[in-house]
Amino acid sequence: MPETAAAPDIVTCRGERFRLYLSEDEIQTRILELGERIAADYADVGVPILIGVLNGAFMFTADLMRAIPADSEVDFYKLSSYGESKVSSGQVTELKEVDAKLEGRHVIVVEDIVDTGLSMKYVIDQIQTRNPASLRAATLLRKPDAAKVEVRVDYVGFDIDNLFVIGYGMDYGQLARNLRAIYILDREAE
Ligand code: PRP
Repeated sequence: MPETAAAPDIVTCRGERFRLYLSEDEIQTRILELGERIAADYADVGVPILIGVLNGAFMFTADLMRAIPADSEVDFYKLSSYGESKVSSGQVTELKEVDAKLEGRHVIVVEDIVDTGLSMKYVIDQIQTRNPASLRAATLLRKPDAAKVEVRVDYVGFDIDNLFVIGYGMDYGQLARNLRAIYILDREAE
């Protein structure tokens, strides 16, 4: 395997400094644990279908799927709630429906982050109307202090403070999604 460059401690995005918060190793180790748990939970249930919520969850969805040592399927839903801002707008806009038939399926909604919880709740409510056999939720990050609605998440990578995070699929003005680690605004780290 080719060596990849270590994630830097500090990155700059759109003129602002961000500092390392969760390393690539921490993220990948946790995802492997979640993958093992999902495989065990669904072993006697059936093949789950992961529904990644675009754009932010594309990277987590891909890594989570590879971390599940058993069959799974994947499809995507596309929403937007942050726009170009650092805080969730509180308005969820649906940009793409799920194409796969979900009736009778074992669905796991996959988010990169549950902030106010509005996006996750929106997707769960929408998918529930399609009569899945079961419906669970996974998120890499969750901000308990930012919750505006109660939403049950079955697989949580990390509960984090109410900080603006970028990297590993999460953006600032559409940039920084490529970073392998997760970063927070430098001033928030002090
Ligand atoms: C982010 C993130 C979640 C949502 C979480 O998406 O990917 O979908 O916000 O926030 P909430 O819990 O307050 O709803 P964003 O709207 O930034 O779009 P993106 O996924 O395309 O980056």
